[in-house]
Amino acid sequence: MIMFMRIDRLLCEMNIGTRSQVKELIRKGMVLVDGQAVKKPDAQVDETSVRITCQGKDYTYSPYVYFMMNKPPGVITATEDAKEKTVLDLMREQLTEGNEPGGLGGVPIRDIFPVGRLDKDTVGLLLLTNDGALAHKLLSPKKHVPKQYFVTAREPLTEEMAKALEEGVFIGKEEKTRPARILWREGCQCRIAITEGKYHQIKRMFHGVGTEVVYLKRLSMGSLYLDEGLKEGQIRELTKEEVMNLCSGI
Ligand code: URA
Repeated sequence: MIMFMRIDRLLCEMNIGTRSQVKELIRKGMVLVDGQAVKKPDAQVDETSVRITCQGKDYTYSPYVYFMMNKPPGVITATEDAKEKTVLDLMREQLTEGNEPGGLGGVPIRDIFPVGRLDKDTVGLLLLTNDGALAHKLLSPKKHVPKQYFVTAREPLTEEMAKALEEGVFIGKEEKTRPARILWREGCQCRIAITEGKYHQIKRMFHGVGTEVVYLKRLSMGSLYLDEGLKEGQIRELTKEEVMNLCSGI
C-alpha cells in the first residue's frame, strides 16, 4: 500500500524536529529522500517505503514502534490523565529531554499506548507501542501469554501457599485463576508466572492464599524480558530481534 504524506510532516512525525526546523533543513538541501535532495517542504513522499537521510544520518520510517519501559512506582498506566502523571508523560519527557532529534528512533508519539495495565505501585516491564494488532494478541484471554512477576509478600511463602497458587486461587466468588507457576521462592519473595491478566490478579491471588503483596515487579511478557540495565522510569526501543520474537511467539 502506498501512502503519501508531505515530507515536512513526515519528518516531524519522525521526531526529527519541529515543523519550522524541518522546513529549514529541507530548504537547505539537508534532507535526502531515497538519496535525492528534496528542497520543497510540501513534496509528497510514500511514507511506507521512504528512506530518509537527514544531516548525514539515515532514518527509515516504520509505521510501528515498540518500546519497553521500566515503569516506576507512582505513575499510572494511561495515555493521559488530568491529575496523575502517566507513563506516556514519562515517555514524552524522555523523547524531548536532552535527546538529539529523532534520537529514540523517530517516533510519532500520539499513537502510542501501553499494552496492558500495571497498578500505580507496580514496577517493571511495560510495553508501549502503536501496534494494535500485537497488543490485541498479547492481551487476548484466549492466548494465555505468560507473564512473570517478582513478588515480595508480607508473610513468608509456605509450601501450602505455593501449592495453592499453582493449583489456581478463587479471587472472586466464582472466579478461579488458571494455574500459576512458582519459578523460585525464598522467605517472603518469589518469582511467579501467570497466563492471564485479570484486574489486580497477583495481589488478589496472594490475598486469596492468606497474605498481601508489598512489592510487585513485572519481569516478562511473552518472550520479552525487562532489560535490567534500564533504571526505573527509563525506556528504550525494542531490538529487531525482540520485536520478531514477540510477534512470532503468539
Ligand atoms: N497483578 C496485580 O495485582 N497488579 C499489577 O499491576 C499486575 C498484576
